[in-house]
Amino acid sequence: MDTKDKVDAIIEKYKRDKGFLVSILQDIQAEYNYLPKEALFDLSDSLGIPVSQVYGVATFYRAFSLIPRGRHLIQVCLGTACHVRGAPKVLEAIERKLKIKAGETTADKEYTLTTVNCLGACALGPVVVIDQEYHGQMNQSKSDKLFA
Ligand code: FES
Repeated sequence: MDTKDKVDAIIEKYKRDKGFLVSILQDIQAEYNYLPKEALFDLSDSLGIPVSQVYGVATFYRAFSLIPRGRHLIQVCLGTACHVRGAPKVLEAIERKLKIKAGETTADKEYTLTTVNCLGACALGPVVVIDQEYHGQMNQSKSDKLFA
């Protein structure tokens, strides 16, 4: 199935209702791990809404990515509470382990590493979230074990 067919199937699921734009984008991202440009143009065509509006929504929510991402998303919190407890060292350890820098994806497309400013779990800091799973009180050796 090519991109257009897949996007069409997702749009059909929502009965071509523009009101479900965010849900449709979520489903497209679940399919590709990011929002491919051609999918956004197909979506604009099929729903009859300007591509600028589709991009507006796609760029408004942090959860959406316009660049290819790995199967697993790693978020390292660098907010103040995590920072003072050693989050930069945790980030360095993960970068070393995966051989990528924050913002990058491993060559095997398994992991994308990002940083965030607060994950709302400051008491557990330093915090690393992999997909939806929170890992608190991280340090360099604990972070190594996450990817053993
Ligand atoms: S600063 Fe890291 S969870 Fe709030």
